[in-house]
Parts: sequence; structure tokens; C-alpha cells
Amino acid sequence: MLRPMVTRVGSDVEEAARLLREGELVAIPTETVYGLAANALDADACLRVFEAKRRPSFDPLIVHVPSLDAAVRVAREVPAEAAALASAFWPGPLTLVLPRADVVPDVVTSGLSTVAVRHPAHALTQQLLERLPFPLAAPSANPFGGVSPTTAEHVVEGLGDAVAYVLDGGPCRVGVESTIVGWQDGRPVLHRPGGVPLEAFEEHVGPLEAAAPIEADAPRPVAPGSLSSHYAPRTPLTLGSLDELLARHAGRRVGVLAFQREREATTCRVLSPTGDLFEAARGLFAALRELDRAGCERLLAEPVPEEGLGRAINDRLRRAAR
Ligand code: TXA
Ligand code: MG
Repeated sequence: MLRPMVTRVGSDVEEAARLLREGELVAIPTETVYGLAANALDADACLRVFEAKRRPSFDPLIVHVPSLDAAVRVAREVPAEAAALASAFWPGPLTLVLPRADVVPDVVTSGLSTVAVRHPAHALTQQLLERLPFPLAAPSANPFGGVSPTTAEHVVEGLGDAVAYVLDGGPCRVGVESTIVGWQDGRPVLHRPGGVPLEAFEEHVGPLEAAAPIEADAPRPVAPGSLSSHYAPRTPLTLGSLDELLARHAGRRVGVLAFQREREATTCRVLSPTGDLFEAARGLFAALRELDRAGCERLLAEPVPEEGLGRAINDRLRRAAR
């Protein structure tokens, strides 16, 4: 019998660059989660990203660049306010939604007039981006709707040989995806809470409203991180007060995702005994994966404080719940 092809995993930036130049897909480490990358200016390669993830074509990709100067090549303009945010937070877990330049193929932006751009903070991916004559379009490197990968092993588990090479940069330091900010009617709006705490932005741009659908007459859900069942483990997950939920599910095989305090359950993962939201974010997706493997009927999770990275954690937990 033929054995399934095993994906190659390693830290060879040259090899990753060679494959990307040939139009192949390579998983790349970032400080937030691993991305499934392709040449952002090659429509065919980007189409294969959608196929590999089984991602619907209306959910656009983020374009990763090695500098603010490189962002200027994929965006028609970078308004002063956007440039100021980029100088404050790049490289880092911030994605800016900017007017799109013509070089960016339709498939990347799902036909929108804007493009999402980010300069990630990871040494290996920085070296890779600097070696390439094109930026990298990369969504998170997981099958659509599933839990995002924060290690090279997670990528292999989810995508197998759909990816030519996994550039292994170790576990992701932030652990939740980037914060996505755009502008609507000249006002800054939030598309997705993420790795930069909102409080940090608001010092720069004032209060952020939630983004309204971008092109009101287009029949697509526009801030698609906003699709409801997303970041979801296979085991059904309920979000609420753990003590109440544990009482309701007494005697059942349940897995518990607790913020600070361990609970009696078939299996329990604690995100941060000291209540550190950065530590909680870093371990969130790995904990969800471990709980998902524990053979439970249901997972129970509690919200964390709605501040700092807690907003991103609660957002992912709400979307994982069903
Ligand atoms: O941290 C991250 O952002 C990771 C790493 C790999 O960079 N990437 C990531 O990609 O989370 P993805 O595809 O899983 O989520 C990107 C989100 C999607 O929900 C997409 O809809 C939104 O970005 N997005 C992309 N282009 C957009 C645009 N023009 N306007 C509004 N939202 C956009
Ligand atoms: Mg994703």
C-alpha cells in the first residue's frame, strides 16, 4: 500500500523561498499563529491556498510584507493615520485594511476594493520575506473553521501534505491572530480583536467602532473572521460560568478550559494560574486541541476578563462555542 506523503518540516529559509518562487504553498511561523503562505501576486498559487484550507472564496487573505515600504506596493495609498499605526505596531500582530493596489489579484481580496496587510514579527519569516521579490498571502494554516495552529506539528496535523514545506519557527509567542483595523467613512474600525490590545490602539486613534459590512450591497459576510462557527474544536463547546456548567453536566465526560483555577473534570486545562492574559492567549489554541483529543462529550469554557488580550480570547471562545 502507498504510504501518504509526509510533509517536510524544517527551518531552511532558502528551501522555503525556493518552493514559494515555484508557486508552491509553504507554512510560515509568525508571532500570532502559523500561516499558509503563497506568492500574493500569483493568482493560481493563492487559489490553491483556498483549496488546501477548503476556505470559501468570499473570505479574503492577509498579505504579509517585510516593511512599511513594501506595504506601499500592495496598497493604493497608505493614509497618514495608517502609517502612524504601522510605525507604532509593526512588526507585530496588527493587520491594516487599506485601499488595494491593482497588482493584488482578485482572489486574494475576494474582489474587495481593500487589501489586508501585515508586517509580522518573526525572525525566520522576516528573513524569508526579505529574500522574496513578492509579498506572501497567508491565512492561518488550518482547515477552514478549525482551531488555528501555533506549532509546526499543529500545521501538519491539520493540512498534511497539502503544504509543500512547514518552516518551523517554534511555538508562536502571541498565540491569537492579529488585530484587524480598517477605516470606514474616514473613521477607524475594528474588524477583529487580536494580538495588539485595543487599549494600545485607542491611545493612538481614539475609540474604535466595530466594522460595519464593508460593501453593503455585496452579499457576503465581510469581516469574515466574523463567520460564526470558526476557531472550533470538533467536540461541542459551551461557554459560561464553569461552576454552573459543571453542575449541569455532573457525571458526564467533560473537558474544562479554565482561566486560573483548576476544576474537577475528566480533563482540565488552566490557561494562566496567575491570571496573565498574555500567557492565556499564548496557550489558548494548544489547550483547545488537547481538550479536543481527550474523548469528551462536551467541552466547557469560561470567559476571561474583557480587557487587553482578553477581548481576543473571549472572541475566539464565543466563536468556538456551539
Ligand atoms: O495573525 C494573523 O492575522 C494570521 C497570521 C498568519 O498572519 N492570519 C490570519 O488569517 O489570521 P486568517 O485568514 O485566518 O484571517 C484573516 C482575516 C479573515 O477573517 C479575513 O476575512 C480578514 O482577515 N480580511 C482579509 N482581508 C480583508 C479585507 N480586505 N477587509 C476586511 N477583512 C479582511
Ligand atoms: Mg483563520
